[in-house]
Amino acid sequence: MDGRFVIHGGKPLQGEIAVSGSKNAALYTLAAALLSADPVTIHNVPDIADINEMADVCRSLGAAVEISGTTVHVQARDFTSTSPPIARVMALRASFLVMGPVLARVGEAGCASPGGDVIGVRPVDVHLAGFRALGATVERSGAEWLARASKLRGTRIFLDYPSVLGTVNVMFAATLAEGTTTIVNAATEPEVSMAANMLNSMGARISGHGTGIMMIEGVDQLHGTEYEVIPDRIEAGTYLLGGIATGGDVRITNADPRSLDSLLSKFQELDAKVEVGDEFGVQVSCPHPLRAIQVQAVPYPGFPTDLHAPMAATLTQVQGVSTIHERVFDNRTLYVGELRTLGARIIVGGQSVIIEGGGNLSGAVVRALDIRAGAAVVIGGLAASGETSVAGVEHLDRGYAHLTEQLTALGAEVARI
Ligand code: EPU
Repeated sequence: MDGRFVIHGGKPLQGEIAVSGSKNAALYTLAAALLSADPVTIHNVPDIADINEMADVCRSLGAAVEISGTTVHVQARDFTSTSPPIARVMALRASFLVMGPVLARVGEAGCASPGGDVIGVRPVDVHLAGFRALGATVERSGAEWLARASKLRGTRIFLDYPSVLGTVNVMFAATLAEGTTTIVNAATEPEVSMAANMLNSMGARISGHGTGIMMIEGVDQLHGTEYEVIPDRIEAGTYLLGGIATGGDVRITNADPRSLDSLLSKFQELDAKVEVGDEFGVQVSCPHPLRAIQVQAVPYPGFPTDLHAPMAATLTQVQGVSTIHERVFDNRTLYVGELRTLGARIIVGGQSVIIEGGGNLSGAVVRALDIRAGAAVVIGGLAASGETSVAGVEHLDRGYAHLTEQLTALGAEVARI
């Protein structure tokens, strides 16, 4: 269901909402389920387009996948194919995650270089180097990468970059390898840790997840599980930033503050008021004028690249000059031209974005160019006076469940047409 969002901006976001299960973590759970022949049930899966795409990728290999509301049942008793069709692989980046599980279970797996947001070069060398280190031969055959190994063998693997999907894919493959694998320079994102915890609930022996050094003791097989996806910290961050951009007061009832340290620290620098619950819940409001800040987007636990664009939109509303330096992806700034269309004073210099905030934005016709660039123009539209029309809604559908309903619950005037 494509279309446009029409936003009548200038109203503070106020109130409380709960966010969905994490998009990225949920995508990992579907691929993880392929590691077992038993049924796997996953709860708190977000109602977003990427989950349907990932379900189709798993089905294309012969797995049974049934989506029932926010619960997904997966069973990969046998595989009818070891490589998903290219058209499916191009729909989302996480499709490449089927390679590790299929290689580990069948001894061979193929996959084209995946699609996904055009936010940078996005190679897969870290994944492939990991498979090779585990003893697989990896070669290119037409558009596909083909990996083969009669038996994967655990070893010590240094990742050139702590790639999130690279870490997950190599961890998947290593769970069924012979012996122990140590991944050095592993990604530490909470979604990676959650995937490790889910695999442990299936009988895997993984430790050190959430740190840069992860150990995986291989086992012969994994059994089924029932597992609940963690709340989406990026969705939570996006609504909290929307609250600040509109001078509002927003509480996310199920946000995990421990996964949002970098964002909450920036809120404090901005001089926003932040309240966190004992375990879950984060609230922000702006009782004072805000102060300009400097932000660097880096791997976890640093400030997330996925909140770079929403943060930039928010900083257009903060008096003074703020900067964001992007250190993860080389093409994260597609949103800049769209914010300029709304009247923002914002420029790109290399990997940095410079924002002269505090000016008034006014409604215009803009585009969501990727998921998070889309979130940025929505925040811009909420802060702008008058009507903003956002095209490219399919990008937002990939990552934000029930966006209009969530914003309406916070008092925004927004409709999908
Ligand atoms: N990289 C390599 N070699 C590789 C893989 C990555 O050099 O083999 C580089 C990339 O070029 C990039 C950097 O490493 O410069 C980071 O990429 P990473 O592999 O960590 O990102 P990803 O795993 O492809 C996931 C999320 C992204 C999120 C990034 C960073 C999923 C499906 N995607 O991507 O989420 O931005 O980690 O946190 O989990 C989003 O949700 O909107 C999104 C884009």
